[in-house]
Order: sequence, then C-alpha cells, then structure tokens
Amino acid sequence: MFKINDNYLKLPGSYLFSTIAKKVNEYTAANPDKDIIRLGIGDVTQPLAPAIIEALHGAVDEMAHAETFHGYAPDLGYEFLRSAIAKNDYADRGADIAADEIFVSDGAKCDSGNIQEIFAQDNKIAVCDPVYPVYVDTNVMAGRTGTYDPKTETWSDVIYMPCTADNDFAPDFPDEVPDIIYLCFPNNPTGSTITKDQLQGWVDYANKNGAVIIYDAAYEAYISEDNVAHTIYECEGARTCAIELKSFSKNAGFTGVRLGYAVVPKDLKCGDVRLHDLWARRHGTKYNGAPYIVQRAGEAVYSDAGKEQLKKQVGYYMNNAKVIFEGLKDAGYTVSGGVNAPYIWLKTPDQMTSWEFFDYLLENANVVGTPGSGFGPSGEGYFRLTAFGSYENTVAAMERIKNM
Ligand SMILES: Cc1ncc(COP(=O)(O)O)c(C=O)c1O
Repeated sequence: MFKINDNYLKLPGSYLFSTIAKKVNEYTAANPDKDIIRLGIGDVTQPLAPAIIEALHGAVDEMAHAETFHGYAPDLGYEFLRSAIAKNDYADRGADIAADEIFVSDGAKCDSGNIQEIFAQDNKIAVCDPVYPVYVDTNVMAGRTGTYDPKTETWSDVIYMPCTADNDFAPDFPDEVPDIIYLCFPNNPTGSTITKDQLQGWVDYANKNGAVIIYDAAYEAYISEDNVAHTIYECEGARTCAIELKSFSKNAGFTGVRLGYAVVPKDLKCGDVRLHDLWARRHGTKYNGAPYIVQRAGEAVYSDAGKEQLKKQVGYYMNNAKVIFEGLKDAGYTVSGGVNAPYIWLKTPDQMTSWEFFDYLLENANVVGTPGSGFGPSGEGYFRLTAFGSYENTVAAMERIKNM
C-alpha cells in the first residue's frame, strides 16, 4: 500500500490567492453588474517590451530551420544569457559573480521552493514575518517546520522575524540562531527594504554563525534609493554565505513567459562540499532547462533598447505606486512601501482584521487587494495593494477608496 507525503496535510487552508479568487468569484456571481478593479495578485499587466518581442520572433524563426534549430537547452542555461547576467547584474555593479555561478531557471518561485532540497532535514529556517508564503510552505512540504499552531498561525520549528511599523519593517536578528535565513528585499508584501549597511549586517551575522542566506531579489529593478544594494554580492563576504534568486517576471513582465536564475557562488561551502555542486547536480537531474526562445528573450532584456524600454515600464508601475501611496495618504490611511517596490502596505482602519478590510474594500469600492495576514501572523492588521494594474484602473481605484 502506498503512502503519501503527509507533510502536505499539515499545510493550513488553501494557497492565499486561491482563497482570494474564490471570494471574488462569489462576489461577482452575486453582483454581475459590478466593475471590479484587481490590485491584489502581483501579476504584471503591461505587454512585453518591443525588444523582447523582437528577440522572441527571431528565436522562433530559428527553430523553423534545421541549421538553427535548438533542442534541449544546457541544464544550467545558455552561455549567452549567463554571460549577459554576469556582466549586467553583477560585474557592472562591482559584484564578483562568474557566469558559471549562475543557474538559469523558469522563475524564482520554483527556485525559492526547490532550494531547500539541498539542505538537511534538521536545519532551522528563519523567515521575515510577513513574507512571500512559498519559503515556509515548501519547508512544510519537506517536513522541516514542526507542528502548526492554528491560534498563533506559526510553526514550532520556524523562527519568525516580525517586520512591522515598530521596526520600520526591517527584521531584527533573532534570539535563536537559524541555519537558513530567507531574506527578500525589496520585500513582498510590505514594499519596504533595508539599506546596504543593514544587509551587510546580515551577511556578517550569517558568516559569524555559519548560516546561509537565501536572498530573493525578485523586485530589485524597483529600487530607487541609492543606499539600497541591488544584489547581496555588493556586500563584503556574501560569496561565502549567500545564494541569490532573481526573476525576469517583475523587471521585464515575464510572468507568463517564465525565466529566472539562482546564483550559487563556488565559495559557499559546508565543510568541503560546495553548494554550487549540489545545486548543479539537482538542476541536472530534475530540470531540463528554460526554453531557447525564452533565454533569447532574456538576453534582450540586457540590450540597450531592452534596458531603455524596461526602465520606462518599471517607471510606469512606480508611477502607479505613487498614485496609490499619495491617494491612500490623502484618504487618511497609514501607508508604507511603494518607494523601492511595486507594493503599498497599509494599516487597516478602525482595528479591522486584514480579511475584514478585504471584504469591506471589495463590497464598498469593488477593489481587490491582499490581506496582510495571508503573508504571516505579523501581517494581521495590514493590507497590500499592488502597482501592477493599469494607470487608469489605479486612478479609478483611488477615487473609489477616497469616496468610501
Ligand atoms: C518575493 C517573490 N519571489 C518570487 C516570486 C515569483 O517569481 P517568478 O515569477 O519568477 O516565479 C514572486 C512573485 O510574486 C515574489 O513575490
């Protein structure tokens, strides 16, 4: 008789965005005449930039001829893309990362979920609270998180690092030293980030304590302030303690195209074992490479035309962020984020819970956002709006909220 991985049964409820979709569907079924504005899920809405479309077309045409056809991609990614990443995202920022330390993938969700596989079962993880739910849930599936307490909505073997208005949404070093530290800056969902000096503090902490940092930099393109690091490898010593995960979803609109990468420096070791070798082994065994046409599209992100077009696209979303930030402030809300990230984080009014505010906003403004409590217990009493909608919808949503 087969047995299931019953760690899956420990996962509470359904995935946050499925719950939201269900609630919105119920509301629209009951109120078919209402025009809903969705500022909930972090999906982009602008079309792919012309430079990327051109690269995709070119690569598709190559696939039509035997001489230029491409089959399986190299496990770890095409050299042309890995070199473009190494130059533009690292060398140009003064960070020492070689092309062969970059592992091309189909996105940061898979990488952030899969990376825990190369670590032992009894490692203790630390996460910011609130945070992108994938880090904790995938460790639950792996049986690494102990037991769940529905009252506190926490796992017994997870170290939570609260990020609230009290600490300016920046985690403090935990009392208990973790083995694996997940950091995500600029942060989803709070939209806040930490300075390069603060990040250096985490790198020093990890090196001193023999911990590894999984650094999710999916929102790096939205950084606007000078004192914020664009990669953890701008910090001294990060090569011996940090893995970095990047996505093409938010900087270049690849949410439906799928491309990302992980950086595992060769200096990052456990005893004599390089994590680079373990991840290469895993990648080679379980992954057959991002499609050629998509990797060519990724290369176009780093072309002069691509860079210029994407700067405008990010600027478009950041203008929406400003509209939301200012709009909510004018309406009397307490808001943060939105300066180095496409997320605005607001305190729910009148002591409403996050889900109460979700219903209130849906019913009274027909606007969909994301309840902060869905990202961790310290997200309770907060709410996330995204800047990824169209400008017109963003302005309309703010008008509705002001008139509630
Ligand atoms: C922090 C963070 N990491 C990773 C991802 C997923 O990125 P990808 O589309 O590359 O899988 C998201 C998506 O919302 C995210 O918020």
